Amino acid sequence: EEKEKQRLREAMDLAARLFHHLLMNTDHGEEAREYLTRRGIQHSTMEEFQLGYAPDSYRFLLPFLKRRGFHEDELIKAGLVAQRDSSTGGRSSCFDRFRGRVMFPIHDSQGRVIAFGGRLLGDGRPKYLNSPETPLFHKGKFLFNLHRARKSIRKEAQSVLFEGYMDVIAAWQAGVKNGVATLGTSLTDSQARVIRRNAETVILCYDSDTPGQQAAERGMDVLRERECVVKVARMPHGMDPDDYIGEYGADAFTDEVLAQALPFTAFKLETIKKDHNLNDEDDRMQYLARAVELVARLPQAIERDHYLRRLSEEFDISLDALKQEQRKAASKKK
Ligand code: UTP
Ligand code: MN
Ligand code: MN
Ligand code: MN
Ligand code: MN
Repeated sequence: EEKEKQRLREAMDLAARLFHHLLMNTDHGEEAREYLTRRGIQHSTMEEFQLGYAPDSYRFLLPFLKRRGFHEDELIKAGLVAQRDSSTGGRSSCFDRFRGRVMFPIHDSQGRVIAFGGRLLGDGRPKYLNSPETPLFHKGKFLFNLHRARKSIRKEAQSVLFEGYMDVIAAWQAGVKNGVATLGTSLTDSQARVIRRNAETVILCYDSDTPGQQAAERGMDVLRERECVVKVARMPHGMDPDDYIGEYGADAFTDEVLAQALPFTAFKLETIKKDHNLNDEDDRMQYLARAVELVARLPQAIERDHYLRRLSEEFDISLDALKQEQRKAASKKK
């Protein structure tokens, strides 16, 4: 069991090194190198993240690793090689899973390569192909970049959670070293636990589009369930962090986006507000009722008090009235 895993780790490590070499030093990797450079990725970053390139060929990695003594079965188990429907017979039905893609190695907490995400250079589907579940890799349990970010997460007592590999990398280049990302799925409880173990506060910095915002909503709940202090970063609609950094630069990203991230409750209140026309009296009262309901659900009395006072001032409603409504809402919930 452990011996098998060790073999798979060796295969993953060799693959990562081959892909990286191809990207950095060979003609095969030229187009990918240009692609990454066009996207603002510096050479030093390609080195640091051990980015790579998988050539657009069905048999490149496979014969390479076979020559190094790996058996096809092992490479299938590692998720590096896929197998064609065997019913058609024929000798070698195995082929490289990753073809014509920029390769992002995914590491475990000890910095060992356990999986890859691979991005097409152009359009096409899927845009990102990730390693399947393997004995080394369970996508709901790992976070991209955690092994590099951990020190900084602990030092700053805060992590930044992104949606994409490129967001983590762009942020890293912008000096944000405490960024991690999920691996093409929504945040799981086990990932939230890992995050919480390293720092209490998490800034959610998901794409500012509808799927991103929906994923952020779910992520908030998962994180709060694990008693994280959640903040939510906001960007102009349609942008993701990588786009934002490309457009406005590193300082704008840290000063305007991360530093201005809203505390969970403030963010929720903003979100609800968008559904209401506050100039209309009825609508304003409906907003207040929903806002008080939200506040009533907060676990901490201090937080409840803080937000009720804010609402009281903002809408010139007595704190007593709001507290009454809060009690009503609280008893309704149970
Ligand atoms: P996005 O579509 O937002 O991609 O998906 P991106 O990270 O901004 O990538 P670029 O900038 O176009 O290169 C966010 C994340 O969702 C996963 C990947 O982890 C990606 O980083 N994803 C996306 C997949 O796993 N497969 C896909 O086909 C697309
Ligand atoms: Mn190198
Ligand atoms: Mn997106
Ligand atoms: Mn994106
Ligand atoms: Mn992007």
